[in-house]
Amino acid sequence: MTAQGTDSPEHCLTHTPSRPSSAGAGAGVLTVLFSVFQPVSHETLEADVEDEGPAQAADSSNPGDGLPQYRLSEIKNHGPKSSRPWVIFEDKVYDITDWIPAHPGGEVILRAAGGSIEPYWDIFAIHKTPYVREILQQFVVGKIHPDDLEDGRPRMNDIEDPFVSDPTRDPRLRQITAKPCNAETAGEDLAEAFLTPNEVFYVRNHMWVPVIEDTAADAHGITIELPDGDVKTYTVHDLKAKFKQYSVTAVLQCSGNRRRDMTEHANKTNGLQWGPGAISCAKWEGVRLRDVLKDAGLPLDDLPEDAQHVQFSGLEAYGASIPIHSALDPRGDVLLAFKMNDLPLPRDHGFPVRVIVPGTVAARCVKWVSKIVVSDEESDTSWQRRDYKCFGPNETRDLDWDKYKSIQEMPITSAITRARKKSADGNHVEVEGYAYSGGGHEIQRVDVSLDGGKTWDQASLVDDSEQDSGSKAWSWKRWRYEGALPTTTEAAAFVVKATDDAYNTQPQCYKSIYNLRGNLATAWHRVEFDPRKEKGCADS
Ligand code: MTE
Repeated sequence: MTAQGTDSPEHCLTHTPSRPSSAGAGAGVLTVLFSVFQPVSHETLEADVEDEGPAQAADSSNPGDGLPQYRLSEIKNHGPKSSRPWVIFEDKVYDITDWIPAHPGGEVILRAAGGSIEPYWDIFAIHKTPYVREILQQFVVGKIHPDDLEDGRPRMNDIEDPFVSDPTRDPRLRQITAKPCNAETAGEDLAEAFLTPNEVFYVRNHMWVPVIEDTAADAHGITIELPDGDVKTYTVHDLKAKFKQYSVTAVLQCSGNRRRDMTEHANKTNGLQWGPGAISCAKWEGVRLRDVLKDAGLPLDDLPEDAQHVQFSGLEAYGASIPIHSALDPRGDVLLAFKMNDLPLPRDHGFPVRVIVPGTVAARCVKWVSKIVVSDEESDTSWQRRDYKCFGPNETRDLDWDKYKSIQEMPITSAITRARKKSADGNHVEVEGYAYSGGGHEIQRVDVSLDGGKTWDQASLVDDSEQDSGSKAWSWKRWRYEGALPTTTEAAAFVVKATDDAYNTQPQCYKSIYNLRGNLATAWHRVEFDPRKEKGCADS
């Protein structure tokens, strides 16, 4: 399996430093092995390691290097449920039992147990460092039997594909990477409906899609930890039975939406090269996070000092957080959602329950949520502390990751999703698109130019209010514009920019907002399309 572009190659399958409040794994023998943010020194590693002795007796031994040899079938017995889980790396076998306690996403490393850890390290490329190999080296218990090796490695068909249980995706989605699945909504589908149909709603997965059978959905639990150490668990069934359910229409948008434009018009960026389709809008239904936290015992009227952030963890190890004021705002509509457009959440979008934080970057809307922690700190994942931040155009080296805040509310943006001829000669055109602003700000105006920004006119905003719900303007506005092309020999270039109710508007060019990660590429959206020379339509 080859490494596929994730937004966060620096995130790791190993672990972050244990923090009793967030990780709940503080009792581990290895307090710090490898941090998500920076590798610890070798001295620390050695000091922290306690040798617990050999894992298990071997079936046979290899006199060459003294390491016992194991068949793949034997290694399989040391799967996630075994008392001594093993993994394979290259041609060696490692007993990771003592690695797990220091690993906040313990189950994540267990995904690899009984088989090869390499497909997972392909997802989290940071593991391919000497540090991690050194850590692993301490747990070696044997070698793979030569009969199970091909060119010194376990045969490929004996290595499990972590994505084997992923759902099938609609072919209309524009796939950027298959494993993990990252796929954007086509311009045509963005233009067509206010509520994006579930099958064509963009997908942004950092890892595989966890498997929860339909029959197990109601029993899925979310553990809630409060700053005073109180822990309470609610099953999906409890949440549905105990709390009032709300319906909120909201856009989800990846912070990398339109990153490709920033790359093309400014400079190279790190991350998935999304077009304008890493955004969609849906009706979400679920219970309010605020109500659940209150029931769990968080005193909303007398918040403790250390209640600053609400951290969310997903089943596969993804994690992120939002500030406490967003979580508790009675008009913030933050949901633990079970339904999307009147249907149970599709697997790709978080079945059976996900977080929805309207008006905020979708990276905080954790899917398959299984743990919520109210803490004095942000989530310690790289998705919170590194990936979704913007540095200045010149800040491309030796970055101080703590210098800037993580992205929460989204800035204003707009895009052209479709342009069509309205007359046979192509001189009359219709241009369509979306406009959206974060933080609940309502779009009040969309300006369109058919001559590359020399002259402007206003688009009409589609009235989708009947389908809209929620305490603030969490949805996008679809817009349409019909007009005549300028009588010029120059190629036509359509441009759009929007303005919200706080008079926030989009920057003109990408260079001014360039950042190495290519986040928040919100400059005027421009589409070169001359309907007089083309057949049909342009679909972004
Ligand atoms: N939650 C989990 N558990 N795993 C993920 O990979 N991706 C995040 C967020 N929540 C992610 C997650 C990101 S970066 C985005 S943009 C949105 O989910 C995408 O949501 P969608 O796939 O439902 O469109």
